[in-house]
Amino acid sequence: MPTITIDGRKIETQPGKTIIEAALDSGITIPHFCWHPALSVAGNCRMCLVRVGSYKKGPDGSIEHDVEGNPVVQWMPKLQIACATPVADGMVVDTVGEKTIAAQNAVMEFLLINHPLDCPICDEAGQCKLQEYAFTHSRGESRFVEEKVHKPKRVAWSDRIIFDGERCILCSRCIRFANEIAKQPVLTFVERNDHVTIELFEGTTFDSPYSMNVIELCPVGALTSADFRFSSRVWEMSFT
Ligand code: SF4
Ligand code: FES
Repeated sequence: MPTITIDGRKIETQPGKTIIEAALDSGITIPHFCWHPALSVAGNCRMCLVRVGSYKKGPDGSIEHDVEGNPVVQWMPKLQIACATPVADGMVVDTVGEKTIAAQNAVMEFLLINHPLDCPICDEAGQCKLQEYAFTHSRGESRFVEEKVHKPKRVAWSDRIIFDGERCILCSRCIRFANEIAKQPVLTFVERNDHVTIELFEGTTFDSPYSMNVIELCPVGALTSADFRFSSRVWEMSFT
């Protein structure tokens, strides 16, 4: 069994697991948007960037220590995405250090550049991953003074699901769900750069009996239920 060290904690895990899975098994949640345990790995949101390395070993194979007695870690030159990096025996992972947090904060800043500031009227507010990370991984104010990019809003994917292109963070969870779970591959990314959005293939509707699951699966408020949107806030509801 591979043993890895996450934030100084030794964790025994299983071969084939990714860092995000091994961490979660041990109660460590690495920030993420696109990763979902029931879907294939897309690795496109970059929110799960972590520092990865291994202990430096001397010629005799023993771990080297610095003058203070701490083991020396050889970090990979670039941060890695935890959702697509498989564990390896002896791996060292840093999910809370300065460089890791700076990278995750930078991802959040990019995601928020064009995101509408409409949390007060968004159905997802109160259970939104973007909102949550805006508290934990953001500078608290925007440096972007230009006009935000505008995209199609209130697009009906069926008579049950409404898509808001401006709220979408392009995590592709809905596309993968349609392809892999609902088996109705009708959604696709279109356009380039900051104009990328999601469209239905021409002449199609996303109306699989499973389709409404994407509303829950969407980590932000980009997908809403046609007959429930704007009717209640999450904190007014109770678990059933
Ligand atoms: S609509 Fe939601 S689930 Fe789909 S790509 Fe956008 S943010 Fe992700
Ligand atoms: S969760 Fe890893 S890249 Fe999105």
